[in-house]
Amino acid sequence: MHPVDNQRPVLIVGNWKMHKTISETLNYLQTLDQHLSAHELQREVWLGVPFTALHSAKNACAQTAIKIGAQNLHEEAEGAYTGEISATMIKEAGADFVIIGHSERRRDFNESDEQIKQKLKQALAKCLTPILCIGETLEERENALTRDRLEMELKNALENFSFQAVHSLIIAYEPVWAIGTGRSATPEQAEEAHQIIRNCLASFWGSEAAEKIPLLYGGSVNVRSAPELLDAPNIDGLLIGGASLDP
Ligand code: PGA
Repeated sequence: MHPVDNQRPVLIVGNWKMHKTISETLNYLQTLDQHLSAHELQREVWLGVPFTALHSAKNACAQTAIKIGAQNLHEEAEGAYTGEISATMIKEAGADFVIIGHSERRRDFNESDEQIKQKLKQALAKCLTPILCIGETLEERENALTRDRLEMELKNALENFSFQAVHSLIIAYEPVWAIGTGRSATPEQAEEAHQIIRNCLASFWGSEAAEKIPLLYGGSVNVRSAPELLDAPNIDGLLIGGASLDP
């Protein structure tokens, strides 16, 4: 069943990473809004911006359908964590959603599955839509461990949550080998992984619930690869890094 048939929205999420100041953000949003108005796209557009641009971006998008989110949050509600940002802070700054467990954070900042689970709890407690990122490394894919990796990451992050508690959840499948490498997964590879994810979610909460959870693909998506990825039945949207920096 394609997302258009089953009511899951087609979602395009930009992950800006450590790019764009406040003024660059405002210029971008002005241009993007013009493009979106001119083309009447049947897509939802969400942008994961740096913390510093959240508030201005949210204000600039007030009259548009664009949603604004953060790329991370801390796993505790508050406390002596110098330099960290809480769910309450990003919520009040204007975030609608938050990216959690991106592989760059797992790899470069040693984020553990336990931290990721706590981050999910914080996001859900503040009504922030979590976009949970999971994905295998090249080595795991080459050793036929993709399924194991995806199922383990899902289990570790989501075990013990009821579907009701995570009903706003979005999952992003981002194979580590495809991120920022220019080497996107093929639609077939992505679809296969998304089926694994959908089945795993069904094993937690039943297939009706699993069908409701949007699954995004991310990893070197560009204007050429996007349409065919979106044609796959279980790909409900895209999480786009580098290519999202150009409105
Ligand atoms: P990329 O990044 O599109 O630049 O590969 C995707 C991501 O990291 O979310």
